[in-house]
Parts: sequence; structure tokens; C-alpha cells
Amino acid sequence: EFDGELVVAIDGPSGSGKTSVSRAVAQRLGLQFLDTGAMYRALTWYCLDSGLDLTAATAAGDEKLAADVVEAAVELPLTMHLDPEHETVEVDGQDVTAAIRDPRISGAVSVVATNVAARAVLVERQRRLIEQTGRRVVAEGRDITTVVAPDATARILLTASPEARMGRRGHQLGGTQSRADLHEQVLERDAKDSTVVDFMTAADGVTTVDSTELDFEQTVDAVIDVIRGSKVVP
Ligand code: DC
Repeated sequence: EFDGELVVAIDGPSGSGKTSVSRAVAQRLGLQFLDTGAMYRALTWYCLDSGLDLTAATAAGDEKLAADVVEAAVELPLTMHLDPEHETVEVDGQDVTAAIRDPRISGAVSVVATNVAARAVLVERQRRLIEQTGRRVVAEGRDITTVVAPDATARILLTASPEARMGRRGHQLGGTQSRADLHEQVLERDAKDSTVVDFMTAADGVTTVDSTELDFEQTVDAVIDVIRGSKVVP
């Protein structure tokens, strides 16, 4: 049923469950899995490792820094392993899969993700990675349905209410965060990021899956239903 070319594009805000849902969909359908957020995080790791100061307060309007970030994007020695059973991210031969989840990276990644020229460089790499899978992949991020792969077989916006998203992120982080911290890490970060790409509203031809009232398995099923409905039966 799911043979042949099958590019699934999934966008959504933080806490929508998009990464874990996308990985599970890839596993169920025998597809590769591309987490594009991990690429923005890897670039952030590389910038910090190269000594760039990505402190948001000083980064805004700093043209030299913006140019340095673009240069880092161009030279980024990145290897993405797209097997959903054990994806890894390597920078310069170093496994940074865990390191890019560090709060130090989460706090700085917006500076990289709002750099329009650096985005263009990563978008090109993402398109090449999708081609390298033989177009058998679930690609997940903020601009996959609109910019990276608007020609995908299935295009999905995965959403959930702000309450549900803060609750899930809090759960992921071990339930120790204050409400104010979660507000900052989920809603304020999304507001900042969505100034560059709009991932809060579905573009033309994109199907919204609202997971607010769904558990994990139900969300995976709902996404697979959309994919089934998007496949042109020959
Ligand atoms: O989904 P995440 O938290 O791993 O994403 C990390 C950052 O990268 C976040 O600031 C959003 C941004 N991002 C983006 O701008 N475009 C994408 N396609 C993926 C992520």
C-alpha cells in the first residue's frame, strides 16, 4: 500500500509531538526520517563550538555575526543518519545527537533559525537528503510543507492547543519546569520563530491534524490516514 515514492512533509509548533509522531510514522511505513530541527541545532552547536557568541540580546542587528553564521552553514561538516530506529547527527565526525538537545543549544537556536541566508543553505541540504532517500522519507520541521518539499506526496500540519503543547514539553523535560519557563520555551520561542516561517496556519493543500484530544497512537493513526488519503491510487 505504501510502496514507491512517498515523501511525507510534517510541520508544526513545539510540543505538537511532531518529532516523535513523525518518527513513529516512518517506522510504521518503512520510511527514512529527517528531523530538520536537528540540522538547525547542529548548526547552532557548530557555531558555538567555533566560538561565535549567539547571545540573542547582542545577536540582533549584528551583521558580522549574521555573515559568520551563514559561512558556518556553508562549511558545516554534517552527517545525518536517517534510519528512524537509530538516527544520529554527526558534526565533523563527532556524535552530537545528545549534545544538540542541551538547553544551551535550545536557547541559542533561534538566532540561527531566523537567519534567512543560513536557512537557504540548510533548505538546499534538506532537499538533497530527501533525494538521497530515493524519496522515501518523513521530513519534519517548520517549513517542509511550504518551502523544503511543497511537492511532497502528503503535507500535514500537526497542531495542538497552547495548553497541550506546554503540558507535553513539560512532561518531556521531566515535569520540573515552572509554568513561566514553559511559556517561554514553547509559546514565546514559537512566536519568535514564526516571524520567519509561518508554521501556525496550514498552507493551501496542507491537511491539519489537531492532536489536542488525541493520544500518541491516535495521532500516528490520524497522520497515516491523511497519507493514505493523499496517495494517488494508480
Ligand atoms: O523542532 P526543534 O525544537 O528541534 O527545532 C529547533 C529550532 O529550529 C527551532 O527554533 C525551530 C527551528 N526550525 C526551523 O526554523 N525550521 C525547521 N524546518 C526546523 C526547525
